[in-house]
Amino acid sequence: MLAIDTVRGEDYKAVHRLAGEIDGIVQHAGHVYKIMADHFGDSFFIAHEKKQNGPSVVLGFMLGFVSQKFKGHLFVWQIAVSHKSQGKKVGSGLLKHTVEYARKTRDCHAVMATVETTNIGSQRLFEKLGFTIRSEKFRGNGQVLTVHHGKEAVENFYGSGTDQIFYVMEL
Ligand SMILES: CC(C)(COP(=O)(O)OP(=O)(O)OC[C@H]1O[C@@H](n2cnc3c(N)ncnc32)[C@H](O)[C@@H]1OP(=O)(O)O)[C@@H](O)C(=O)NCCC(=O)NCCS
Repeated sequence: MLAIDTVRGEDYKAVHRLAGEIDGIVQHAGHVYKIMADHFGDSFFIAHEKKQNGPSVVLGFMLGFVSQKFKGHLFVWQIAVSHKSQGKKVGSGLLKHTVEYARKTRDCHAVMATVETTNIGSQRLFEKLGFTIRSEKFRGNGQVLTVHHGKEAVENFYGSGTDQIFYVMEL
């Protein structure tokens, strides 16, 4: 049975392993997932298959936190699903859970994320759930807007050579 839960105990190790297996996201060092689990664990979720006898298997995760810069915004840092579980609504489940968590969180009134202009699957995920593009609002001083397939993005937002689309859902 698939369940979505807050990260617990040693779950961060499975998340770290999974991040290394999924194309399209960066695998951060193991301690990054531990620090996030220890200090921001309330907004760090795993999607896992619970087995009757034996350990559960982590199929996906959403690593997020409430931003200090953009007050009241829960920032989705990484959302990812194992290759064999993609296309089965696991990502949608994680994102819906995140939105529900944000709704229940005091002083939180939006969920936001940045998505690379080349990542069509992730763009669809956010659009399907009703997120809107707000790249203009969130670009920094001196940062340049560009348009990819009709979608506004911020050029080289992370300084890594990639253009990022800002998706936001106001609650
Ligand atoms: C993006 C990702 C999290 C989506 O999770 P998922 O469980 O596969 O997505 P879902 O099954 O819930 O699908 C949600 C919608 O997204 C779209 N979608 C998902 N993956 C897609 C893909 N590879 N190509 C095109 N559309 C895709 C579909 O339109 C789908 O809606 P529909 O089936 O009702 O039309 C997952 O594919 C993934 O881990 N990708 C690699 C890592 C990554 O890019 N993470 C995001 C970084 S910002």
